[in-house]
Amino acid sequence: MTRHTKKTAPTITVVGSFTVDMMMRIPRLPVYGETLLGSSFLQAPGGKGANQAVACARLGANVNYVGVLGMDSMAEAALELFRQEGIGTECLFRTDEAATGVGFVLQFPDGNNVCLTDMAANQHLSADMVDRAASLIEESDAVLTCLEIPTDAALRSMELARKHGVCSILNPAPAIAGIEKLKGHVDVLTPNHVEAAALLNIDPDAATSADAVAIARTLREEGFPAVIITCGEDGAVIADGCGEMKVLGAKVQAVDTTGAGDTFNAALAVAIAEGKPLAEAVMFANCAGALACMKVGCVAAIPYRDEVEERFRSTYSAMN
Ligand code: RIB
Repeated sequence: MTRHTKKTAPTITVVGSFTVDMMMRIPRLPVYGETLLGSSFLQAPGGKGANQAVACARLGANVNYVGVLGMDSMAEAALELFRQEGIGTECLFRTDEAATGVGFVLQFPDGNNVCLTDMAANQHLSADMVDRAASLIEESDAVLTCLEIPTDAALRSMELARKHGVCSILNPAPAIAGIEKLKGHVDVLTPNHVEAAALLNIDPDAATSADAVAIARTLREEGFPAVIITCGEDGAVIADGCGEMKVLGAKVQAVDTTGAGDTFNAALAVAIAEGKPLAEAVMFANCAGALACMKVGCVAAIPYRDEVEERFRSTYSAMN
């Protein structure tokens, strides 16, 4: 597959996280004290920020990554990944105070997963470091961040983006309780339906994707100009100045959903940066996220631009 290159490609700065992911297939969650046999062990680069950066690059954007790695050999995987994908590392920092981040990803037979992460070096990304990326942010068309880094650093990137009239997109993953800190800095908020419930202090176990429209409306009323709640194979819900709408998902045979949300967010950022209307951007992102479920792993499963465009045509022209 060749890289998509356009003279008019948008520039996205991803302020995020990198982990080395250790993935294993398991039949079910073990109980306390139990040793359970897994299979298909795989070690690969991951972390929400790195996945998002790779996806933005494969979808045709110029990408800068801002983040922190340790001084250990695991950091080499990030350097190699960013080099291969043509991602800018001018503001990639190193620390000797922590190891490079690590993730344990447990994959269930139905394609769903749970992740456990030690963010380690990623937690050393400070607001001051983000300030050093101010000129990259100023020259960007969109800034995308997540919460696998300190909230202050994520918010600083959103503040700088807004200051320079650049679209600020926050994927509030992993979930945090409460929205007070996030208000006023974010143009587009993109929780999944569990994270959205957590932001409003609703029990995430009780939240279903059926509640997403009401939750999106409430989040918007709380001060986020656009809220997009992802609902897995059910698609996504948008709440913005035009009201609320559901966008149907692109159906695929999912084998592994890890990294699908990161790919969705990257595709959304690219489409917004290209000037697409929000509903079309969400359709494009739905297709990218769905395609990312069709292969095992994160980076290995992230699709390229032509694949997403083809899926977009087949999914949404069939619906008209
Ligand atoms: O969103 C998927 C990512 O979340 C994985 O790469 C894993 O590292 C976790 O951080």
